[in-house]
Amino acid sequence: MITTQELRQKYLDFFKSKGHAIVPSASLLPDNDSSVLFTTAGMQPLVPYLVGEKHPLGTRLASVQKCVRTSDIDEVGDNTHLTFFEMLGNWSLGDYFKTESIAWSWEFLTNPAWLGIDPGMLAITVFAGDAVAPKDEESVQLWKNLGLNENKISYLLEDNWWQLSDKNSPCGPDTEIFYYVGSGQPEPASNPKDRPQEWVEIWNNVFMQFYKDEAGTCRPLVQKNVDTGMGLERTCAILNGFKNVYQIETFQAIIKTIENCSDHNYGEVPELDRSFRIIADHLRAAVFIIGDPRGVEPSNLDQGYVVRKLIRRAIRHGKLLNILENFTINIAQKIIEQYQAAYPELIKNQEKIIAALTQEEDRFRQTLEKGLKQFLKISATFSANQLISGSAAFNLYETYGFPLEITKDLAEEKGYHVDEAEFNQQFEKHKELSRTATVGKFKGGLADHSEVVVKYHTACHLLNQALRLVLGEHVAQRGSNLTEERLRFDFSHPTKMTVEEIKKVEDIVNEQIKKDLPVSFQEMTPAQAKADGAHGVFEEKYGDLVKVYAIGNFSKEICGGPHVTNTGTLGHFKIIKEEASSSGIRRIKAILE
Ligand code: SER
Repeated sequence: MITTQELRQKYLDFFKSKGHAIVPSASLLPDNDSSVLFTTAGMQPLVPYLVGEKHPLGTRLASVQKCVRTSDIDEVGDNTHLTFFEMLGNWSLGDYFKTESIAWSWEFLTNPAWLGIDPGMLAITVFAGDAVAPKDEESVQLWKNLGLNENKISYLLEDNWWQLSDKNSPCGPDTEIFYYVGSGQPEPASNPKDRPQEWVEIWNNVFMQFYKDEAGTCRPLVQKNVDTGMGLERTCAILNGFKNVYQIETFQAIIKTIENCSDHNYGEVPELDRSFRIIADHLRAAVFIIGDPRGVEPSNLDQGYVVRKLIRRAIRHGKLLNILENFTINIAQKIIEQYQAAYPELIKNQEKIIAALTQEEDRFRQTLEKGLKQFLKISATFSANQLISGSAAFNLYETYGFPLEITKDLAEEKGYHVDEAEFNQQFEKHKELSRTATVGKFKGGLADHSEVVVKYHTACHLLNQALRLVLGEHVAQRGSNLTEERLRFDFSHPTKMTVEEIKKVEDIVNEQIKKDLPVSFQEMTPAQAKADGAHGVFEEKYGDLVKVYAIGNFSKEICGGPHVTNTGTLGHFKIIKEEASSSGIRRIKAILE
């Protein structure tokens, strides 16, 4: 039996022994990122370094990264899919390439001193070749050199190409390692290409040597990188001979706690097992999102809406297990207990997590029964195979707080479908009207490092300092979001800004732009950065050393970059909106003209 804690440690120890620096997990909520709600892969916080910035900890890195992928939410409850998961990863930033990457993966997996997996249970896929990159015969040769049999290596096209999104993304061909989950030993004819149901992917080694630009065209990157990712829960399950991820020790403890709240037991009825699994998965994700150093609470906006969906869906599945009283905080306490050693932020933010769950559960339970009755009323008017209209689903959302996923679950149980396109139309219309809700931005994407966005990033630093000068030292950044069109900046301040204050801030920023101040960075420890007067609430995201960006003598902030080299290129800065974001937090939208 190997626990997740042991696997985490082994992985990091192995890559430390190969000269890698360990990077702590970055926040689940990406910073300065317009196109993505959550961190979906270990490489995401490292994008600036994959495209050429110098990382303070060097060119070989390894991490265990907290990730959330909500695009798989409908699959949750099967044997392998999770919304929250931990990704083990190692990176070469223009350092080693295919030879070492493949050899080390093999050594870690098969050497008895490390995981000691039987090589006969493993198979490989490699990139089949296209107009951008050739058939990856080089990797095939490297696998063969390690003793892998030819019939265990297959060529695939789409599956062996990895990118975070289809534009503005580093990318490249990959080679993936699969573990056999069929019965007995794999037959010679069995491989992941021909019999995918017998194999589970455990590790992906991406040879990240291209960049897909705005138009989707690939060009070589300045450096050849390696980016690997291995799912902790999946690999731990496989090492223990488990058939599904819910058998790992942390999930077992969580499921036991759910059993204590229910009069059903796990393992009795397959349909109910799915509900146990969904509750365990969804509440684990919600606890990690709320408890993140940059955590968000349930709301109708962006990440907050995802948290709301996860919690409400867990409560609905709780009802299927006859759990009629508030229970989410009992489960959350078990989750915190299981993960506090690896993620101390959960214990630090325990009160916040409990308060948010209690409030959300109280709220949802107030309308759950009525909403379920309303659903029955609607569904009685349809015969099987008919669609539940988008407006009926939207009414359940608006009046009873049913996220689309709940209505879809209920519909499926009756053999109905929901007109999702119409629901989304109504949702968009509602968003326009209320300007508060957002849905649909759940897929993976990438921080945009286009020239314009980089300018907005530098403008954020100027704005931050200008606000402090005009409003006072209590101003602290609470979030930001950049697009090609504008910047959005959230900060702590109790009252609405006056017209004069807004004007003063604009003038100060424009003065600094006119001065054409140089922008540069220095690497130092967080303690030095603090002593040096740098601002920033940046948890130890980059390990021992942080970058401090200085804009002339005007501003100093801890930040990963990238930035322009001189402020003169920014143009004219103008605040187009100042509004409340939440209690005690103001939001500014500004443009560069
Ligand atoms: N970026 C790749 C993945 O997410 C490898 O880390 O699978």
